[in-house]
Amino acid sequence: MSLTDALREIVGERHCLTDPALRASYETDWTRRWSGTALAVVRPRSTEEVVAVLRACADAGVGVVPQGGNTGLVGGSVPRGGQIVLSTLRLTGIEDLDTDAGEVTVGAGTALAAVQAAVREAGWDVGVDLGARDTATVGGMVATNAGGVNVLRHGPMRRQMLGFEAVRPDGSILRRLPGMQKDNTGYDLGGLMAGSEGTLAVITRVRLRLVPRLAHRAVAVLGLADPRSAVDAAGRLRRALASVLALELFTDDGLELVMRHATVSPPFASRRPVYLLVEVGDGATDPTDDLVGTLGALDADDDAVAVASDAAGRHRLWQLRERHTEAINTEGVPHKLDVSVPIDRYAELVERAPSVVAALDGTARTISYGHVGDGNLHVSILGPAADDEATDDAVLELVLELGGSVAAEHGIGVAKVDWLVRDRGVEAVAAMRAIKDAWDPGGILNPGVLFESR
Ligand code: FAD
Ligand code: MLT
Ligand code: ZN
Repeated sequence: MSLTDALREIVGERHCLTDPALRASYETDWTRRWSGTALAVVRPRSTEEVVAVLRACADAGVGVVPQGGNTGLVGGSVPRGGQIVLSTLRLTGIEDLDTDAGEVTVGAGTALAAVQAAVREAGWDVGVDLGARDTATVGGMVATNAGGVNVLRHGPMRRQMLGFEAVRPDGSILRRLPGMQKDNTGYDLGGLMAGSEGTLAVITRVRLRLVPRLAHRAVAVLGLADPRSAVDAAGRLRRALASVLALELFTDDGLELVMRHATVSPPFASRRPVYLLVEVGDGATDPTDDLVGTLGALDADDDAVAVASDAAGRHRLWQLRERHTEAINTEGVPHKLDVSVPIDRYAELVERAPSVVAALDGTARTISYGHVGDGNLHVSILGPAADDEATDDAVLELVLELGGSVAAEHGIGVAKVDWLVRDRGVEAVAAMRAIKDAWDPGGILNPGVLFESR
């Protein structure tokens, strides 16, 4: 029996897609920079079906690309050519919401927004939030160790995990559900899942630690003269306000693009080179007065401050930052460099990134924005051909010179494989490779992601 016939038997005819038109949306990534042909796309409905799919692929020696919402930005969720895409989109469900403990178990294919909606009704929230919330899945967020806008307060996805269920390439199931707040029985295998980018196992369920839902929030956008002023203001806001949830930076070039492609108006009439968005939140009292008072102490220019406490106003200000990804994608196929540097080098990175790009390609456009509170900057480059890596390399070289990391929250994927050793060193990558070889000796899970495939 052929592999595709075997897969049809496991998941059913309707969920084993071999028709190119039906496969297409699973074969190209969100940026359109990365794509490849799949032998088939399979959509298992249960952990048992995942086991059977992986066993069949391992027996046939055919690679498997796990895919959640396909919102990843480093090419790790789409085939390189000839693999099976294992879509988790039918592995959905919200189980065992423990409203006393603040914990929930979710199917790996459940979108973040669906989890948020379910737990918010019960007075809880998810510690990680990001702009792709309607589509990004919890499994994909664990696999990439997603960060997002609230890392300052709650940490990345790894910190939200209390337990997991996953299937290894040999079909064995690792299951530790429900999780425990204190659990020191050997190696932290869940921690290893976070950031594994589909190279070690297919995550099928996740037990999440929840955070209290905040009744009161306020958002402000400040216009500033330069990136250094934004970094300084972010530091002062963090020191003064325990309620800080998010600190985000964007520039006037980015705002211009967002206004071109989304129906939004600027935060205030007078434009500034750089903007800092701050969100504060509190469970008991409205933090708006404290925020306004602290902004006053920063000597912020009155013409360049906008504050909103109501939901519509907060949404309006957040759109200015969150719509960057989409606006850039509308302009062209971007090169996306998600990096972080020590905070005292952040302003230098924002200032120097466009120049290192311009030195190589005078027509390229560089738009930077990011999570300034935790040192994470997203440098997007428009202009170079998809396979022209010269400007990417120049920015990543600069990041290493500044003592930073070449992958902050999106992962390595296929985009930065060549940079893993440069960033982590030969010994660390050899240790990672040993783990990969032990978990996946046949090398069938996500070949070409993180490491060159063998
Ligand atoms: P996919 O894109 O489908 O897959 C991503 C990786 O995870 C791939 O390597 C894939 O093989 C692996 N994978 C997926 N599911 C599983 C599974 N069940 N088991 C094993 N491996 C799996 N990211 C951030 O960190 N912070 C942000 O603020 C942020 N904002 C974004 C905003 C927009 C508009 C967009 C488009 C993307 C954004 N991202 C952000 C990137 C993306 O949303 C995250 O990387 C997210 O975690 C990917 O989830 P996904 O379900 O789409 O995974
Ligand atoms: C963001 O913070 O907006 C994202 O991580 C996505 C991007 O880099 O555009
Ligand atoms: Zn981000």
